[in-house]
Amino acid sequence: MATRVGAAPGDDLTVAYRRLNAAYQQTLRYAEDVRRLYQQVQRAIYQSLLGLANALEAKDAYTRGHSERVGAWSRGVAAALGLPPGDVDMIGQAGLLHDIGKIGIPEAVLRKPAALDAEEWSVMRNHPLIGAQIVAPFDFFAGGALMIRHHHERLDGSGYPDGLTGDEIPLGARIIAVADVYDALTSSRPYRVALSHATAIERLTSEAGRTLDDDAVAEFVGLIQTLSTAKTDVGPRSALHPPR
Ligand SMILES: [Fe+2]
Repeated sequence: MATRVGAAPGDDLTVAYRRLNAAYQQTLRYAEDVRRLYQQVQRAIYQSLLGLANALEAKDAYTRGHSERVGAWSRGVAAALGLPPGDVDMIGQAGLLHDIGKIGIPEAVLRKPAALDAEEWSVMRNHPLIGAQIVAPFDFFAGGALMIRHHHERLDGSGYPDGLTGDEIPLGARIIAVADVYDALTSSRPYRVALSHATAIERLTSEAGRTLDDDAVAEFVGLIQTLSTAKTDVGPRSALHPPR
């Protein structure tokens, strides 16, 4: 058996260790490449969803600023509640996309310049289900899909589509509901005058613990004084631009 002259004991072990370490470092680089690619794919998907949201905004003028505000406020409340950054991001995104299902609602219903009748309401009430179906293919947004599906549920079970109660409703959906209700109350519609900020806050407070999550209402009331609608921050939407 050949033996290298002058080879110190353990040299083979050192070489093997170096090779193993180099292979490990290469694996880390591959893992980083995969992570980056995954993020790029996620961004591309968000971009596509945003395209759909923009299409909805073109179809329904009311939804435009509404989606932005609900996204920003939901994100703010989630952060104030101390949720992990990943959850805060997802709640902000789901808030932004919560009404995306309205893209599947006929314009005659969506843009009706008067209160909806019972039949039209039953059509309109499909939008959380349609919205959840639109984002369903994206596994990484499964939590967001649930928030979209349940953003019209109410704590006492009076909401839709599933009549969930209390903690059965995902926390993100409960947060989005508070922001959604406030914005609806303070927005003018052709058939309804907007409530003042003070009256809307009174309404929210009276619903806290009854139909709306009381913690989310408390944080929302605290934040709405400081959050500016002119500076909406919906989090990762700013990262929706193609990677540079
Ligand atoms: Fe909605």
